Amino acid sequence: MRTKIAHISDLHFASSLFDPRLADNVAAVIAREAPDLVVVTGDLTTDGYVTEFEAARRFLDGLGVKEKLIVPGNHDARNLGYTVFEELIGPRFPCYRGKGITVMGLDSTEPDVDDGHVGREHYDSIRNTFSGPGVRVLALHHHLIPIPGTGRERQIPTDAGDLLGICKEAGVDIVLSGHKHLAWVWDLDGCFFITAATSTTRRLKGRSRPSMSILEIEDRDLTVREIKTDDLEESVVLRTRLRNH
Ligand SMILES: [Fe+2]
Repeated sequence: MRTKIAHISDLHFASSLFDPRLADNVAAVIAREAPDLVVVTGDLTTDGYVTEFEAARRFLDGLGVKEKLIVPGNHDARNLGYTVFEELIGPRFPCYRGKGITVMGLDSTEPDVDDGHVGREHYDSIRNTFSGPGVRVLALHHHLIPIPGTGRERQIPTDAGDLLGICKEAGVDIVLSGHKHLAWVWDLDGCFFITAATSTTRRLKGRSRPSMSILEIEDRDLTVREIKTDDLEESVVLRTRLRNH
């Protein structure tokens, strides 16, 4: 069983630093790679306005990929954006079940604040979703572990520690996130925390570059390629075998 996932994040439609050439490159990579699933880990918009969601929706619909799993980011929860997200984009807690893989999305946002929170009322649902066989992937906007090179840490989910505990208990294999606009991978007890950079903007830390990731999962073998969305330079950032449950 083989699954290919394209992971993009922090699109920030309507931002002054949104770059349509980067968006074109994202679309070209997705057309070339033909993934089974596109995961978008939040911040589709800049201020949560309806017109921004509509622009993001047009872009995502234009990718021509049937399966998409999209969670909101802190920017999407601004200005009552959280009240239109489900109407314009989809469920805030989506789930994808493929052959040998389950991907669960979490809304980690709170209205009009930048830090994150999932909440204990969702912990049982995480446990239950991942009770079956196959690779277990969680997707949320906020990072659960601080990312090197991103300065003062002030927006990690307030219940990050408890969520890390749930990930361990539920045997989560991969956690996908965004938010910090810098790509990074942590391996914590055999669970891989993969943070994507911004894919379509120049809202970048220092000289870092915009990018997206392609995950290929075959049985329990995982390969992650990071593709820079400015010049399509590509590198393998992770090749590993996921542990058995
Ligand atoms: Fe964010």
